[in-house]
Formats: sequence, structure tokens, C-alpha cells
Amino acid sequence: MGGRDPNVVLLDENGKRSDGRTVNETRKVTIKAGVLKNANGSAYIEFGENKILAGIYGPRDVHPKHLSNPDTGILRCRYHMSPFSVGERKNPAPSRREVEISKVIKEALEPAVILDQFPRTVVDIFLEILQADGGTRCAALAAASVALADAGIPMRDMVSACAAGKVADTVILDVNNEEDQAGQADMPMGYMPNLKKITLLQLDGVLTPEEYKKCVEVGIDGCNQVYEIQKKALEEKYFSKGDQ
Ligand code: CDP
Repeated sequence: MGGRDPNVVLLDENGKRSDGRTVNETRKVTIKAGVLKNANGSAYIEFGENKILAGIYGPRDVHPKHLSNPDTGILRCRYHMSPFSVGERKNPAPSRREVEISKVIKEALEPAVILDQFPRTVVDIFLEILQADGGTRCAALAAASVALADAGIPMRDMVSACAAGKVADTVILDVNNEEDQAGQADMPMGYMPNLKKITLLQLDGVLTPEEYKKCVEVGIDGCNQVYEIQKKALEEKYFSKGDQ
């Protein structure tokens, strides 16, 4: 949470947010599955102003070999922000933030992915943030899930993702960058909509127990909305236009 900028009106008297949304509205989300020819599975997501590519390789041999597990396949995830993805040029070397986000996305996908049929192999997930505007970990997680399905990796459920948060003492859905910087709380969530299980929950900021419960409710609602768009992306690739 950055310091509050007194000039930013995060919620006006009509209940409209700084980008014109209502409190329960997500940004516009579009997803396209199968956008990279050379990856085993892929997806491109636009989540408001976020633009992210997800590429999957595997199951394939693990290098270095000592990381392989004789009982199951493993997941590996690299979340990377391109130098032009943010206002101030980002150093291309992996930052602590990118290491953390790579880890939480991997852990958010692990409950969904069934890898025991592929012992000694790895499934690599590459997430390239082309443009960032708050909520990239949720958008990247949603894209990764579609890309894994596109790669034909067996899964128990899709993992959907959306953040809830708090601005102007009000719980809101899908926090954008401005709201993240000037608001009071940001709570990214990952959720398996059919199994009804939360696989990612982080909180930056302060919430009362009541606000926390409301954020979980609102966040799950956002995840369910994103899930419909994830399904649509897969249907568009595999059912709408015949065999491609
Ligand atoms: O992107 P997400 O909300 O998952 O993670 P964050 O660490 O809360 O970052 C919030 C936003 O800050 C990002 O989405 C970017 O828009 C911005 N950011 C930035 O401008 N420069 C960075 N080096 C890192 C993040």
C-alpha cells in the first residue's frame, strides 16, 4: 500500500470508482487459448490494462536431474515482468517480488494439477507480463490455468483468480493499480470453482474480521466470473471452429 494521494477520488458520491466501475464490477477480461505455436500450451489474457502471455512446456525431462521426483511430476513457474511493462523501466533481472509471485502462482496451481501420472518429469509455466496495471498475479494465474488445460495437462479443476480489496472504507472487487497504490487493502485470491477451494489468498493492508469475510465472498464471486471467461477461451479454441 502506498501513501494516500489526497487528489485521487477512489469512490465518488454515486458509488463509482476512479475508472468508472461499480464496487462489484471486474475490469474487462478477455482470454485467448493456444496463441504460441512452439509451446505445448499457451494463453493470452487482457485483464483491464494488464497484458500477459502464458506458455507451458511439458511434461518433459527435468534439468537439473536432481530436482526430479521418482514418484510424481513437478511444476515449475517463472513469472517475469518485461522491462516495458511498467512506467519506470524494470530491471530485467529477477526481483524478489518476481520470485515470490512465481512461488505463489506455482503453489496456487499445484492442488489442481495431476502430475502423478508423469513421474520424473516437469511442467514448466512461463508467465510474461507485457503490461502491468495492478493484479498481475491473479491475471497470470488465470492465464496459466487456461494454458495448462490447452497443453492437455490433467487437472482436477481450473484455477480462477481475482482480487478483492478496500478503498474509501468500502470493500471492492478487482483492485487496479491506482486503487492498490492509494487504497487500504488488496487481497488476491485463487479459487477452484467446481471444488469450491481457495488455492491462493494473500493480504496487503488491514481489514476488520467482517471486511475480511466480505472480501472473501466478493473475491470468490470475481473468480466465478473469470472462470466463465476461461471456459469460453477453451471452448472457442476446441469447439467453435471445428478441428484446427
Ligand atoms: O501485480 P500484483 O497486484 O499482483 O502485484 P503487486 O506487487 O501488488 O503490484 C501492483 C502493481 O504495481 C503491478 O501490477 C504494477 O502495475 C505495479 N508495479 C510497478 O509499477 N513496478 C514494479 N516494479 C512492480 C509493480
